[in-house]
Amino acid sequence: MTVFALHAIGNPTGTRMIEIIRGDITKLAVDAIVNAANSALAGGGGVDGAIHRAAGPDLMRELSRYDGCPTGGAVLTKGYHLPARYVIHAVGPVWHGGSRGEPELLAKAYESSFARAREAGDVRSIAFPAISTGVYGYPKPAAAAIAVRVMRAHEDEFARIVACMFDAENLSLYTHLLGGNKTENDQI
Ligand code: APR
Repeated sequence: MTVFALHAIGNPTGTRMIEIIRGDITKLAVDAIVNAANSALAGGGGVDGAIHRAAGPDLMRELSRYDGCPTGGAVLTKGYHLPARYVIHAVGPVWHGGSRGEPELLAKAYESSFARAREAGDVRSIAFPAISTGVYGYPKPAAAAIAVRVMRAHEDEFARIVACMFDAENLSLYTHLLGGNKTENDQI
């Protein structure tokens, strides 16, 4: 899978940026990538499957030391064969209609990811997928608003925060929320 478009958009308040990259998060050479995991940390499809395939079986061996992870939580592992040194496995909520604390749990999954990144001590760049917006069925516009809000709250703690978008709808939503123009660039 090729990363085929890059959207780098400055925030209105300063020089730091939340970047939007359209492509496969497993290809990104950042310090940490975030996985959209399940509470059993058992692997699966979507971005979770892609990350396990790219990292290799040692990733599952490390995860098997954990007795799962509650929804809204996150655990950090090494990246093994990934370009990223770490994977932060965040557990977003399954969408049940919005009345089961889904917004708070989604925000917590992003917050927990940033907490694990800070604890690692050497994470300067971190990339996120759109957690819960695939198999877990969270409506993409609502999920994007939460993700961008939490990313902005942590913008000053990292040199680079990347929103790695896989599908056109999320790409468009994040681009709109971050105030940029949607332009397809050359391959990177
Ligand atoms: N890189 C970046 N984003 C990706 C990739 C990838 N390689 N593959 C899929 N995505 C995007 C999807 O398009 C979606 O927008 O990640 C987002 C999250 O979708 P899912 O991976 O389905 O994650 P989620 O909705 O949080 O569901 C988690 O799915 O795979 C299982 O084990 C996982 O049970 C867990 C559940």
